[in-house]
Amino acid sequence: MESAWENDWHLARAYLAWQAELGATDAICDAPVNRYDLPAKLEKPKPAPVAAAPTAEAAQVDPVAEARAMARGAQDLDGLRAAMAAYDHCELKRGARNLVFCDGAASARVMIVGEAPGREEDRAGKPFVGEAGQMLDRMFAAIGMGRTNPDPAKALYITNILPWRPPQNRDPSTEERAMMRPFVLRHIELADPDILILMGRISASTLLERDVRITQERGQWLDVAQRPTLPMLHPAYLLRNPAAKRDAWADLLSLQAKLRELT
Ligand code: URA
Repeated sequence: MESAWENDWHLARAYLAWQAELGATDAICDAPVNRYDLPAKLEKPKPAPVAAAPTAEAAQVDPVAEARAMARGAQDLDGLRAAMAAYDHCELKRGARNLVFCDGAASARVMIVGEAPGREEDRAGKPFVGEAGQMLDRMFAAIGMGRTNPDPAKALYITNILPWRPPQNRDPSTEERAMMRPFVLRHIELADPDILILMGRISASTLLERDVRITQERGQWLDVAQRPTLPMLHPAYLLRNPAAKRDAWADLLSLQAKLRELT
């Protein structure tokens, strides 16, 4: 009997796309297996060799301390990107297509820290390029700012807490956020913006190291990494709750006023 896939390339491709949508990121084998050709009786697989017990040294690795040391060693943004690419303790890295590091101008006065890449960002290797990203661009365009603006006073520099996409866009875990935090803090130090925007609950909670209720704490100026910092509602939240755009507008005006004040 012929399998349905053999005759229909489009059906097979749709099936593959559907699996990718469900979160499959790797093929288990290098080549497809024709299960109709398999011998009736398969050889019993040999038991896998017992893994050696972790050495005392391996058991003692502290992913956060290692992230701190690697981040501290980065002397510029390229060095930081390379350090993050070399960091091996975050499992999200294995399922991601790209390390999403930044977009916009590093010389911008305003730096935005979002949450984590979604599917579009993972594909493009840039933060905020999907629907939420388009919303973010519209929000800042309303006060004359944008990531491609050549004037540092009107430009944006954008990054995320997590450089790798969490599967199915789940919330990043506390451990994942804690281990990537030193890299974000170093990123802020190296880019050295005048103002920081914490875009959404995950960004604010990670950098402030406590659970932030973003709908209550947005719009209040804080100090993070020795600079004025404004937590804002995430554009994805605004897409789901259009009535909250009024609050986002108030925060954008507050940002505009702060930029003038600091000039
Ligand atoms: N949401 C984020 O927080 N960051 C992105 O890069 C995309 C969506």
